[in-house]
Amino acid sequence: MAKQKTAYFCNSCGCEEPKWFGRCPSCGEWGTCVEEVVSADGAIGRKPKSSGGVRWSHAGVLNLPGQKEKAHRLSEIEATEESRYDMHDAELNRVLGGGLVKGSMVLLGGDPGIGKSTLLLQTVLQLNDRKVLYCSGEESAYQLKLRANRLKPQDQQENALFVACETDLDTIFAHVAELQPDILIVDSIQTIATDDLESSAGSVGQIRECAARLLKFAKESGTPVILVGHITKEGSLAGPKVLEHIVDTVLQFEGDQHYMYRILRATKNRFGSTSELGIYEMLGTGLRQVSNPSELLLSGCQQGLSGVTIAAAIEGLRPFLIETQSLVSSSAYATPMRSTTGFDGRRLNMLLAVLEKKVGFKLGQKDVFLNIAGGLRVSDPAMDLAVISAVLSSNMDIAVDGRTCLTGEVGLSGEIRPVSRLEQRILEAEKLGFQRILIPDFSLKSIDHKKLNIEVCPVRRVEDAFRIVLK
Ligand code: TYD
Ligand code: MG
Repeated sequence: MAKQKTAYFCNSCGCEEPKWFGRCPSCGEWGTCVEEVVSADGAIGRKPKSSGGVRWSHAGVLNLPGQKEKAHRLSEIEATEESRYDMHDAELNRVLGGGLVKGSMVLLGGDPGIGKSTLLLQTVLQLNDRKVLYCSGEESAYQLKLRANRLKPQDQQENALFVACETDLDTIFAHVAELQPDILIVDSIQTIATDDLESSAGSVGQIRECAARLLKFAKESGTPVILVGHITKEGSLAGPKVLEHIVDTVLQFEGDQHYMYRILRATKNRFGSTSELGIYEMLGTGLRQVSNPSELLLSGCQQGLSGVTIAAAIEGLRPFLIETQSLVSSSAYATPMRSTTGFDGRRLNMLLAVLEKKVGFKLGQKDVFLNIAGGLRVSDPAMDLAVISAVLSSNMDIAVDGRTCLTGEVGLSGEIRPVSRLEQRILEAEKLGFQRILIPDFSLKSIDHKKLNIEVCPVRRVEDAFRIVLK
């Protein structure tokens, strides 16, 4: 393919230069230079990009520039359900919003070594009915084969999976044209490049151009494309922010190297909710889906220890019970330490202020540490009651009964506020064999607790809760 003309643009003011620049001669910003392909005739201005310049007709057909599509009345547009591929993985399907949508582009991000390649390879190995092309720019075919053997040793019927170790985008498209796959996977977007740009793979210009071309392919052919993306030191997806705008779905695969489980969450999803979570456990033979997360999050060895409480939380649509641990100790310094893992530090400060003002516990001279079990990050406000009880339990050195769990949001005046989907939380606690659950009094009316096999204690204020759990 003939080399295309490129020019350098400032990301900030849009000024065009024939040569690379460190500081934009027009607006004076540093480090905003991006190389881009310009129209074949060398005309000034950028070539229309798939992200902006290409239009879709209402039937999902691509309209080339110059071809006009008339505006339609919304009621005249026929909408059929998006067709989705079942990925044979309940966790992944749920996070995607019910399966992989045809013609969509998904970006899977995560720290190195977290298991992105493992997750994708393992998933596509199960898709015997779909032809998949896995393009890897990071691993050799031999390495991929070894990994596949490790993941699925018993079954060698992997005929539907094709592997190409390729970093050139045009060669990838040549493979695609030949194979006509149902799903295309590119691992990773930072390793592929097109010859049309001079900059090296992984640069902002390359990532943007490659992603835009892959998107055009996905929309035109209806083939879903899954991209793997790296994460920078700061924790955001490496590459231009525009990458996140281009794709339909952004999935984050996170977890701690030291914990064996991994969490998959959607941070953007055009075809589903972003509040869903998928939980996996990393084993020697790949990732195992964790369909009952509470099992994993409760250690069961907390009986009789002070500073430990169990919260009935909901993340996404799934309820689970999770251990909250706190340690309160005398501070050696004038400014006491407040340290949290998995919980919002400002929220903890607010809860400590409530303890001080409304219940009279002086924690001003104490260090307070708070830890949510398993390195999980929980943002459900219903955690409040468990957190505040754990802090007080540690402060008073009185253990909370391990068969009691708590759910409730704490208000600024120490009142326990109602929480969402209480019934689901209670049922989950009952299912796991808890004997008692503390819930906000205001929500009691909405549930029928007579039939339940668990004692339901409604509480109005934090003091009521302390009276029940700390004795
Ligand atoms: P990988 O999928 O290569 O990570 P990424 O693509 O996100 O960089 O995962 C590599 C890690 O996973 C590596 O540290 C080893 C571990 N692992 C297992 O524990 N069990 C397994 O079966 C596999 C394949 C990997
Ligand atoms: Mg990888």
